[in-house]
Amino acid sequence: MLSAARVQTVFAKAAPVKEESGNQGDFKGSARQGKHCHAGGCRKLYSANPSRNRSLTMTSPIVVPVSLGDRSYDILIGGGLLPQTGAFIRNVFSGQRVLVIADANLREVYAPKVLAALAAAGIEAAVVFAPAGEESKSVAELSALWDALVGGRYGRDAAIVALGGGVIGDLAGFAAASYLRGIDFIQIPTSLLAMVDSSVGGKTGINHPLGKNLLGAFWQPRLVLADTDVLQTLPRSERISALAEIIKYGVIADAAFFAWLEANITSVRDLEPAALAHAVKRSCEVKAFVVGNDERESGLREILNFGHTIGHAIENAAGYGEFRHGEAIAIGMIAEAALALGREPGWTAESQARLRALIGRAGLPTALPSDSTLTPAALLDAARSDKKNRAGAVRYVIPKRIGEVFTRKFSDAEVEPVLKGE
Ligand SMILES: NC(=O)c1ccc[n+]([C@@H]2O[C@H](COP(=O)([O-])OP(=O)(O)OC[C@H]3O[C@@H](n4cnc5c(N)ncnc54)[C@H](O)[C@@H]3O)[C@@H](O)[C@H]2O)c1
Ligand SMILES: [Zn+2]
Repeated sequence: MLSAARVQTVFAKAAPVKEESGNQGDFKGSARQGKHCHAGGCRKLYSANPSRNRSLTMTSPIVVPVSLGDRSYDILIGGGLLPQTGAFIRNVFSGQRVLVIADANLREVYAPKVLAALAAAGIEAAVVFAPAGEESKSVAELSALWDALVGGRYGRDAAIVALGGGVIGDLAGFAAASYLRGIDFIQIPTSLLAMVDSSVGGKTGINHPLGKNLLGAFWQPRLVLADTDVLQTLPRSERISALAEIIKYGVIADAAFFAWLEANITSVRDLEPAALAHAVKRSCEVKAFVVGNDERESGLREILNFGHTIGHAIENAAGYGEFRHGEAIAIGMIAEAALALGREPGWTAESQARLRALIGRAGLPTALPSDSTLTPAALLDAARSDKKNRAGAVRYVIPKRIGEVFTRKFSDAEVEPVLKGE
């Protein structure tokens, strides 16, 4: 059976409706002209003019540009963006049809809002729900999306909108990259991890039974719309897990951001709007900078792997699901940073203590649980078999100081002491 049957809701092409706030009309004025007008090209007007829209309560989104030549795009960050989805998409998309691929957990809350906003902007939109969870990054789920696209006769001028966390972004992005050799793609990340990490950079893909993310493509979105209000419903544990990546950006690229996090990490964790917006913005800026200078992961992008060599080894050796990604990365960052102690004069015992304290304050673990059965030997084995570590030589990203890292190979004998906590 064609899984096009899974398409749950179809909105007939709607006549643009007049919004109570009047902001839709304002957006159209700026957005309607021109095709595919994205970050590298003309400037868009993202904010409604408050003087002309007195009932408008939302603030203008923060705009983080990702510079990738003709694949450049913007990340919009702020509260209250979801109801304006259609107007924002109109800035970058001139087609008429959109397929929304959404996390099934968002069926009741956010999917209807996005569909209504698209219809209000005169975009014909349908939605397909994929089950929540990593299992959806599968050939079966991708194939169901292809069926929906073929069955719905979507053309090259259609777009895919991903509404969900990193799982949906990766899956929907790969569907967009592969369907008709690539159609437009828009990310609406709904988890903190997706806002600060997976929706930025253009990596898309699914898992193979023998390994995560083995099948995929680089495919940049046209736009990323990060409405921080949706994080209110994200489980707290997911939120805390994502803080590990945010802390990572401070260590690898921005000492001032690291210091800011030391003062504000609990405000970010508790979704205080200004702190949250700043943390998402700065994280996106760091990732966008790195990706902008190394789109295809041939050099600089490797620094994003700080904490991940040992973090992935922990996830692998323990069996996926035992540790949340952020928890494993938190422990990994502390261990990998410890490799710099006594080797890098700029990374002092004080730096190490600050990192440990910040991770702890975020609510993340700073070491494996005392009853863990994971041995250093098992972790070193897992690190060696990671797909990114070729021929036995394991590369680690280690800090020079807070705000700067570099990569270096380490022997097992050098790494073992930090895994033993020596
Ligand atoms: N492409 C990249 O560059 C990249 C980078 C990092 C991670 N990833 C991938 O991202 C995935 C992890 O992403 P994730 O942590 O977002 O996981 P996820 O997509 O599984 O989302 C986590 C959970 O939160 C729920 N959820 C999401 N948004 C919600 C909201 N607003 N309210 C309530 N519940 C919500 C989801 O249903 C899910 O149960 C992994 O597959 C990983 O490989 C990709
Ligand atoms: Zn990560």
